[in-house]
Amino acid sequence: MTIAATQVLPGPAWDELPGVEVLDAWPPPEPLPGVDVLVATVADVGAAELDLLPGLRLVANYGVGYDPVDVAACRERGVAVTNTPGVLDAAVADLTLALILACRRHVVAADGFVREGRWRSGWAQPELLGRDLAGATLGLVGLGRIGSAVARRAEAFDMRVVHHRRSDGLPLDELLSSSDVVSLHVPLTDETRGLISRERLALLRDGAALVNTARGAVVDEDALVDELASGRIAAGLDVFVDEPRVPERLLGLPNVVLTPHLASATVETREAMTRVLVENVLAFLRGEPPPNRVA
Ligand code: DGY
Repeated sequence: MTIAATQVLPGPAWDELPGVEVLDAWPPPEPLPGVDVLVATVADVGAAELDLLPGLRLVANYGVGYDPVDVAACRERGVAVTNTPGVLDAAVADLTLALILACRRHVVAADGFVREGRWRSGWAQPELLGRDLAGATLGLVGLGRIGSAVARRAEAFDMRVVHHRRSDGLPLDELLSSSDVVSLHVPLTDETRGLISRERLALLRDGAALVNTARGAVVDEDALVDELASGRIAAGLDVFVDEPRVPERLLGLPNVVLTPHLASATVETREAMTRVLVENVLAFLRGEPPPNRVA
């Protein structure tokens, strides 16, 4: 069995994989007929890429969200797909809270205020006056493992937490119009692409914050940029439609905090994700069902 990877993964579990070939480029410039297993990190794996790996039998996705992998195309070719759930919920929830705090308490703007020598009187300027988390309503769109981890943290900050999901909770439009902070925790699927449309963004309260640590394409990004440029709402964004491209107009806006898809980026979590991925691959190599098979 030949294993190829789009990059080396962190942590001791990585060394348990037998003989990984790390690819110089993705997609590869030439077909690689001998590759059985692909370890993919935020790598588009669609029909065109699968045609370059005609012997492929498993795509092991490094991450819980496997939207870059065309699952239907994999199924058609008999290629299994695995992901790495369960070990990154706390890290993603922590960054979500960091973005909520940054938006409500202007942490990034305040840092610039000090560094740029604008702090001239004892108490800072009115534009840095924030809003409490305590008593504010947090609307969670999605209440799976990550959404629930965010809810627990928000409750510890005395926020009032409401949610929307397919099976229960508030209707989405009602949640959007009644929350002070809206945080997205749904996977990117055909159903959720563009879920937070221009019309829905308009439902957000004046001064509300939208936090997205899920996937950029869950939101109509152009509409979000327009809404943020108007100054009516704020946002904390870890994900974008066409990463690593960030819409130019966002870069100059004071009411948005931007992070580079950092939600799972802690040493402990990334090493744990490697462990889960390696367990999937090793099970597959032994001819056993991988624990986290999604297709
Ligand atoms: C995932 O695992 O899907 C996350 O987006 C990684 O940060």
